[in-house]
Amino acid sequence: MLSNMRDHLAALHDILRNMAAGNLDEAAEIAESRLGVSSLERHGASHMANLMPEGMQSVGTGMHKAASHFALKAQEGEVLPAYRALSEVTAACVACHAAYRIR
Ligand code: HEC
Repeated sequence: MLSNMRDHLAALHDILRNMAAGNLDEAAEIAESRLGVSSLERHGASHMANLMPEGMQSVGTGMHKAASHFALKAQEGEVLPAYRALSEVTAACVACHAAYRIR
């Protein structure tokens, strides 16, 4: 799970780098494949979700949905709405970290 988290942070960085360079399509692709709903199978979400309390699962699901929503916004090509959608992704990172620890 922690290596998955480290990839989340790396993905966020890659998204921001691409946003800053004006590559919104690339940012969308990274978000969907590494953080979005499409990433769930790849990182074995169903396996991990079983280990999480319910509230934590729902913040996690919210994060994946927010990332997919960001990907759609980025594909529309408008920078400010895309950043706003991206801040909903980071809000989920912050909310979960504020509430849960592994032990
Ligand atoms: C559903 C809950 C949840 C969400 C959403 C979440 N995390 Fe985490 N994350 C955790 C937990 C729990 C830990 C372990 C914290 C602890 O036990 O101290 C963690 C740890 C981390 C770590 C430390 C990894 C290490 O090697 O120690 C990083 C980096 C991280 N998260 C990044 C992110 C980023 C970036 C996002 C959003 C894109 C995110 N996380 C979203 C629950 C979450």
